[in-house]
Amino acid sequence: AVVVHRHVSKSRRWGRAMEIVKELEEKCATPTWKLKLVADAMTVEMHAGLASEGGSKLKMLITYVDNLPTGNEEGLYYALDLGGTNFRVLRVHLGGKDGGIISQEFTEVSIPPNLMVGTSDALFDYIAAELVKFVDQENEPPARQRELGFTFSFPVMQTSISSGNLIKWTKGFSIEDAVGQDVVAELTKAIKRQGLDMRVTALVNDTVGTLAGGRYANSSVIAAIILGTGTNAAYVERAQAIPKWHGPLPTSGEMVINMEWGNFRSSHLPVTEYDFALDAESLNPGEQIFEKLISGMYLGDIVRRVLCKMAEEACFFGDDVPPKLRVPFMLRTPDMSAMHHDSSADLNVVGSKLKNILEISDTSLEVRKVVVEICNIVATRGARLSAAGIFGILQKLGKDTMSNGEGQKNVIAMDGGLYEHYTEYSKCLENTLRELVGEEVSESIIIEHSNDGSGIGAALLAASHSQVDG
Ligand code: GLC
Repeated sequence: AVVVHRHVSKSRRWGRAMEIVKELEEKCATPTWKLKLVADAMTVEMHAGLASEGGSKLKMLITYVDNLPTGNEEGLYYALDLGGTNFRVLRVHLGGKDGGIISQEFTEVSIPPNLMVGTSDALFDYIAAELVKFVDQENEPPARQRELGFTFSFPVMQTSISSGNLIKWTKGFSIEDAVGQDVVAELTKAIKRQGLDMRVTALVNDTVGTLAGGRYANSSVIAAIILGTGTNAAYVERAQAIPKWHGPLPTSGEMVINMEWGNFRSSHLPVTEYDFALDAESLNPGEQIFEKLISGMYLGDIVRRVLCKMAEEACFFGDDVPPKLRVPFMLRTPDMSAMHHDSSADLNVVGSKLKNILEISDTSLEVRKVVVEICNIVATRGARLSAAGIFGILQKLGKDTMSNGEGQKNVIAMDGGLYEHYTEYSKCLENTLRELVGEEVSESIIIEHSNDGSGIGAALLAASHSQVDG
């Protein structure tokens, strides 16, 4: 009798688990018609954000980059790239016309977690100290003052190409006393405290750096997207189409806009109870809603939350809820990606990830399959929504139809760990974009991986805004 009873109860549990998965799938659904509504909303918000300061959730920040690299940039420049869990310092030797990039070196340093939530001085002192170490490895000191392009991947209200105030932190950062401050002034003070002679001549968002680096490699680049810890987009706008810009019209007639699309939200976005909970418990509740559905910092945690509910309500992993499932951010997106890509017959990658990370051992093949299915649902939603965002930009630029020049290519530069390493995600994104623009137009839209373009882009912009005579 006991056996029968167990059997029934086991199948009931399984039934409840399947209900949870089915509901997740329904709530995360992104049929084409819905993606088009999201894209339309993105286009509308772009207009609103350009019309007036504070006109939209989309900040549509003016970058003061009105000229993208031409290929004539020449000399030795530094770049510093801060925005995720690591920061990078680069030295780039630019060869001038037809010379290309002669050499580049870089170092990557992880940011101690306590510095991400500490004080402004502590963070910038740490960065400046690493910068000094790197500069010390220079072959020969330059004849002139060193110049640096600073890639700072957070929303900044720029006051010039080389200054700007931090609007708010995003991703895992929260350093109260830096909000509202000029981040170039903060960095410059820290560099001085280290006794280093270096001038910051360009302040750029990573999307803007990627756009600049992408344009240097390919003159058809019109926009750049980052899909990494966070997500964002920048593109080249006609200066005439920016009503809130009251400065002089640039001679190029163009201005790069940093959209900060991570903060986009719309009633058309498919959100679930897991997303509400993740947002409410985050460092920035109510903010960066699009980013929380799409980007690398959050995808793994959404999956963890689903599994946790299944453990709680359907005993999916046995009678007890595995304690590690209750720990925020325990399941990281790279591990989710590894499980999602597991092609072995017995899904042993899934098995070992569950065991090693979440301390759930002896999972059956059926259970592992369901875990993969959940990864698929969450990643697919994110990838399809990012494609909708890109389609929204193409609509804004009028590049979503065949009306423009025959044979003209529109290239979108992409970068970020999520795009680079989560193959199922990037494949899905590319297929969805094709689905949205249609077969014919999709011939003219090219997605190009711009490997580490943001640091090089910052060095290129530092060069074109150099304030020192060579
Ligand atoms: C976050 C930041 C944004 C950055 C993006 C990608 O959304 O706010 O500035 O571009 O992450 O790193």
